[in-house]
Amino acid sequence: MSLQATAKALVEPGKGILAADESHPTMEKRLARVGLSSSERVRRDYREVLMTAPGLSEHVSGVILFDETIRQSRSTGRPFAQGLLRAGIIPGIKVDAGTTPLPRFPAEVVTQGLDGLSARLTEYAALGARFAKWRAVIRIGDGRPTAGCVEANAHALARYAAAAQECGLVPVVEPEVLMDGSHSLERCSLVTSAVLHAVHDHLVRQRVDLTGILIKPNMVLPGTESGQDVGDDEIAAATVRVLRDTVPASVPGLVFLSGGQTPVEATARLDALNRTGAQPWELSFSFGRALQAPVLEAWAAHPEDRASAHAALLHRARMNGAARRGRWSRSLEPSTAG
Ligand code: 13P
Repeated sequence: MSLQATAKALVEPGKGILAADESHPTMEKRLARVGLSSSERVRRDYREVLMTAPGLSEHVSGVILFDETIRQSRSTGRPFAQGLLRAGIIPGIKVDAGTTPLPRFPAEVVTQGLDGLSARLTEYAALGARFAKWRAVIRIGDGRPTAGCVEANAHALARYAAAAQECGLVPVVEPEVLMDGSHSLERCSLVTSAVLHAVHDHLVRQRVDLTGILIKPNMVLPGTESGQDVGDDEIAAATVRVLRDTVPASVPGLVFLSGGQTPVEATARLDALNRTGAQPWELSFSFGRALQAPVLEAWAAHPEDRASAHAALLHRARMNGAARRGRWSRSLEPSTAG
């Protein structure tokens, strides 16, 4: 399949991406929160539950795997990536090596992983991956982000995207502006806009084919400690305004991260985004926490009861599938959902 065909399939209407690519330290934290300790076996068992939900492909187009997972198999012996392909779901892989402090820029980070990247991409493609993900992390704070930090991260994202395309993988380009902090919605708009401008600039300079990528942006939100109360429609309008100024129409789709919003918040805002009228790109999801949180809770409570964990995942997938079309409503959610 061409890069364009894969990118288009990942953002097919009614579908989106399940991000299940947590690194070991992140998975350890998520498992600890539900009273489990992390081991290779536990991580495999949990991810097997995620990837064997019957009918998952109805609303999930692709799953992002972690390096460990793409080398693991289901209990039947079938490698995870092959199982996904058989189920009509496109396997993807996280290829960045996490963040590291950016020298001379206190409290700012840069994402690493460019060294040896082409060899790893070639191996992942042979293991079945058809798309890749690299996440840059931008924090808003006093005098931050600096231009130096934004440039370093945008450059790395573009180098990664070019390498991924060279190996036949669709790059999912994720410049995440974190929602932590006391900043306003307006400040998040300005920062997200500056970051996406820099990313576009570097993508063009590195000769990335914009028709064969997906951008994974944050929604434009007020900081979690801002005290600002903003409605979903206002968030959607601010987000679309920034994206229309910074992401060319040649990019086939935007797959939002959830970034710490509750599952229902993320769905409601995706729905509002898809109600803003015709946009040049598909507006979809690539949620980690917003898809997985209820599943992990259900599974940790009763690991032998896969049906309940599957039901939790399929419900959120269905809700986000509806939001993709602007057809979600709060009445579709159980009254206890957060
Ligand atoms: P969240 O939706 O939990 O932010 O995760 C998405 C992701 O893949 C971050 O890289």
